Amino acid sequence: MSTQAVLDAVAAEVHACARCPLHGGRARAVPGEGPANAELMFIGEGPGFHEDQQGRPFVGAAGQFLEELLGLIGLRREQVFITNVVKCRPPANRDPEPGELAACADYLERQIAALNPKVIITLGRFSMARFFPEAKISAIHGQARPVGGRLVVAMFHPAAALHQPKYREPLIEDFRKLPALIAQAGRAAAAGEAEPPAEQLSLF
Ligand code: URA
Ligand code: SF4
Repeated sequence: MSTQAVLDAVAAEVHACARCPLHGGRARAVPGEGPANAELMFIGEGPGFHEDQQGRPFVGAAGQFLEELLGLIGLRREQVFITNVVKCRPPANRDPEPGELAACADYLERQIAALNPKVIITLGRFSMARFFPEAKISAIHGQARPVGGRLVVAMFHPAAALHQPKYREPLIEDFRKLPALIAQAGRAAAAGEAEPPAEQLSLF
């Protein structure tokens, strides 16, 4: 199956999913979105009010800030893949529960496997924990760590940075480091390939 076919199949399953109790409170499930050839994948926590209404990730205030952050490094949201660890809105935006995270994990796994992004950026504690269960976000944010042949970078959640000024500058600084980290990931991939694709660093 092509990447797009897998992403479409996962989205269709998510829209019909009743694997965890969050399905009962949703207006719409939010599988995630972005091009099948995206080199960057952003993983947030879960849909909020606006995301649940529209069925799209990061379309509220946090999403607007995320778009500004992408703009700092010359990217538009249409160029990256954006999703969440849970695909349905937790009631009153509470934290996702362990059983909900576990029930939903397979969708994210399949999205990552299909997209095979060079760099994954986790936004907030819950998506960081999927890769670095023991880590403290204050200790590892902005650092690129190799996981399964790609780089994973934990960052503060844009919503946290909107509400708590102390996270704002660190999040901006971490975003400014991304182009160098993407180039680093590109070089690592090229070193492992006999004939690196000419389009490798086309984003920058
Ligand atoms: N916060 C998230 O974690 N995800 C969204 O999609 C929107 C806000
Ligand atoms: Fe299914 Fe995930 Fe929604 Fe739970 S949060 S109902 S597992 S799609």
